[in-house]
Amino acid sequence: ATENRETWTSNTGFILAAVGSAVGLGNIWRFPGVAYESGGGAFMIPYLCALLTAGIPILFLDYAIGHRYRAAAPLAYRRIRKPAEALGWFQILLSFVIAVYYAAVIAWAMSYFVFAFDLSWGQDTLAFFVGDYLQVGDPEISTTIVPGIAIPLVITWVAVLIAIALGVAKGVEKVNVLFIPLLFVAFIGLVIRALTLPGALDGLTEFFTPDWAALGDLDVWIAAYSQIFFSLSIAFGIMVTYASFQRRKANMTSSGLVVAFANSSFELLAGIGVFATLGFMAHQQSTQVSELEGLTGPILSFVTFPAVINEMPGGTIFGVVFFASLIMAGFTSIISILLGVAASVGEKFGLGWRTSAVSVSAVCAVLSIGLFSTTSGLIALDTVDQFANNVGIVLSAIVMTVLLVWVYRRGELLRQHLNAVSTFKVGKWWIVLIGFVGPVFLVIMLVQKLVSLVSEGYEGYPGWYVGLFGWGTVVFVIVMAAILTAIPWKGRDQADFRPWP
Ligand code: PHE
Ligand code: NA
Repeated sequence: ATENRETWTSNTGFILAAVGSAVGLGNIWRFPGVAYESGGGAFMIPYLCALLTAGIPILFLDYAIGHRYRAAAPLAYRRIRKPAEALGWFQILLSFVIAVYYAAVIAWAMSYFVFAFDLSWGQDTLAFFVGDYLQVGDPEISTTIVPGIAIPLVITWVAVLIAIALGVAKGVEKVNVLFIPLLFVAFIGLVIRALTLPGALDGLTEFFTPDWAALGDLDVWIAAYSQIFFSLSIAFGIMVTYASFQRRKANMTSSGLVVAFANSSFELLAGIGVFATLGFMAHQQSTQVSELEGLTGPILSFVTFPAVINEMPGGTIFGVVFFASLIMAGFTSIISILLGVAASVGEKFGLGWRTSAVSVSAVCAVLSIGLFSTTSGLIALDTVDQFANNVGIVLSAIVMTVLLVWVYRRGELLRQHLNAVSTFKVGKWWIVLIGFVGPVFLVIMLVQKLVSLVSEGYEGYPGWYVGLFGWGTVVFVIVMAAILTAIPWKGRDQADFRPWP
């Protein structure tokens, strides 16, 4: 078959790019805090369950769809059944929403990379981050642009645009081939340094001490599943798109195992490094890790870490390498998202590669700068993140698995597709996991989450605010998915497509 779809240059190129997408801010600032809050050592049980029962199986499903139907998510699903295109847009739009705020965190990391050279955040790192740097105001819609955020944000988007416009092999793959090995070396260096600090062991003890009672808490299980989805970049349409650029003869499942293993190892390593460092901080302040504040989310990387770096001998080098790692991890993930969005828009509207790269990046950049370089950025980010990751992506995974296994009955076909190309053979257990175990667990979790968000709101923010940025995000994604699906397909659709093998 003549096919002019671009491909990764090799299986290694694909693996590096997929690891680059997976290993991101989620591993460095999300995982350690989530794990600690959700039972510490005991969190490993729901985490491993989530990885084995949903993470790896849905990663395989993403790969199978992309590789068999050879298109970005909307067209890949459309090739299964026309209305399923909507699911593709739902996933891609969720990714788009994430890209808009993810870029803001990368921009902060760029600023902090510069600040680290002279530790210019000073002693009060919370006041510096929230006050001097972000200039956070009330939860409202602000139009005051903060240049300190806007400038690195513009740089981030220009860099993303260049990487995407250069294409799959010359842009995205090249970035990953360069950054991923560098990131792993830099990060291992950081962890080794952290482990040699006084108090490191206490930090690890704190991190790994299991709180078995946490296992009875449904929220802990939800946290584990949404961490796995976000972290592996699955059910976002992104891995479908990545797999569609694989050559026809490509070992899909073995690559998937490598990616999942690399991602979880990196995550665990980040947890160890972060808590060793916190152990040092507690040691310096003659207190306990459990007494420290600010162990999650953006605060961990941008307030707590800078404070530790202040107290550390050779703190500048540690700070520079830490923020460089955040930038590399974040950048290799955000380009995966933009590649997915750009490829989807390009295929639907029959646009050339460059045209779709430029237009999609421009829209994202404007939204991202408009929303996040203003004084209300931090709170908006937190709210959007909560709804996109605990509601949006769980819904996406449910619809995806139920539709494919039960409505369109493609489970066996996709299993055979994977086995025809891969060395690691997928048994019938896979269909049981994606068709039964996964959806049942996910529905229970989604219902629980919705009930708590409806009855308790979120973080005590005003109702209209949570409505706009939280529920609004979910509604926006659903409505836009419907609109995009309703627009007639303009690009090439079924004509040039033959499933293989
Ligand atoms: N997996 C990335 C991380 O851990 C985030 C991401 C989500 C990337 C969705 C692509 C798609 O940070
Ligand atoms: Na990850």
